[in-house]
Amino acid sequence: MDWLDISQYFFITETRLRQISREFKGELEAALSGHPSSLCALKSYLGLPTGQEKGTYLALDFGGTNVRVSKVRLLGNGCFVIEKKVAKPLRLAGEYDYMSADTSVEELFDFIATIAGKAAGGNKPYALGHTFSFAAKQIDASDAEFVSWSKEMAVTGMEGRRVNDVLRQALVRQGFDQIRPVALLNDTTAALLAGRYQYDTADVGIICGTGFNVCYYEPAWGMIVNTEAGGYDRIAQTPWDAIVDKESLRPGDHKLEKLLSGAYLSEIYRQTLLTYFDATDLPRFTTKEMNQILQTDSASQGRFFMGSLWDRIIALNDVQNVRNLAAAIFARSAQLTGVVCYGVLRHLTPEGALPPQTIATEGSVFAHVRGTLLMVQDALLECNGNTRKSDASPVEMVLVQDGPTIGAAIAAAMMAEK
Ligand code: BGC
Repeated sequence: MDWLDISQYFFITETRLRQISREFKGELEAALSGHPSSLCALKSYLGLPTGQEKGTYLALDFGGTNVRVSKVRLLGNGCFVIEKKVAKPLRLAGEYDYMSADTSVEELFDFIATIAGKAAGGNKPYALGHTFSFAAKQIDASDAEFVSWSKEMAVTGMEGRRVNDVLRQALVRQGFDQIRPVALLNDTTAALLAGRYQYDTADVGIICGTGFNVCYYEPAWGMIVNTEAGGYDRIAQTPWDAIVDKESLRPGDHKLEKLLSGAYLSEIYRQTLLTYFDATDLPRFTTKEMNQILQTDSASQGRFFMGSLWDRIIALNDVQNVRNLAAAIFARSAQLTGVVCYGVLRHLTPEGALPPQTIATEGSVFAHVRGTLLMVQDALLECNGNTRKSDASPVEMVLVQDGPTIGAAIAAAMMAEK
């Protein structure tokens, strides 16, 4: 099949983009009022920080593929220092795999507890903020009941358990009983806290890394709400998306996430390449490598890179087509992110001009795929009717470095102040 024919499937018209943002807003409002919805309205029990929170805290970032524990000093006035960071992947080929179904919850959390102990420099009295990047139903701001894994995490036995309770027990088992988990929050909430700590106009947080999610400050509830936006299920799949979903660990689940986040983009791309090359097999590769394809300087360099990645000879006149396909898939990811975000902004300001807004963003797709944030903003402004590029934008996208880490420390500080 010709590359243009394939990429047409990833093209979304302006009319449809606007419609998606309206439908997303409707689905969010259904979730908020307790009606059936593919979105959630999970309470964080955390308001917005003032920027003046201070102190030294441990911040645990338990995300898609890595665990990081940092010692963070909050200085107030929106400033902070990461004094120490200990990071480990959850899976190390040939050595261990803490993501597999063979791993018990205890083994997984013992592994995390030892990393926390290293970051603390032993059994020292620290309050710990825990950013947990999976769906969980908060009991209060200090703990949450596990809801479900995503991002191909397969550990069994978490159902119905309180996440920080499980962590606390593991810390005790590993001899770190002085480390006290005092806050539990979603990574998107953490990114928003970190954004708001530095920018007064941040009300929305978005993550697009291994997974995808959106949260925002809900004035009616006086707290940040986690929408689990990756679960939104009202966008049509292309034939290649459908294959990726079908072959994933949980078919039918996290449908929007599977169209636009790092865990899936390279697999969608690989499926389109099978069609383009009319091939039955092509080695798997990562979204990072997919991005490298776009960033190679010349066609011959690109050809060499693709050839070594896929173990096949790539014709020079295929190089640009293959790159265009990757660009089309990344562009759809950015556009969908933008319109979903616009849906949230229009929930906050249903009519009239949007007030100035800083969107706190985090994640590898935003950080590394060139042009993504601009495309997100363009799609958002398109929905807002700002068609002329010279129109002043009410919305600014900022990349919050280390959002889950800084946000966890801020949440711990907010709990300590209570
Ligand atoms: C999880 C969310 C998380 C997002 C980004 C999703 O798979 O369900 O809770 O915020 O990934 O990490």
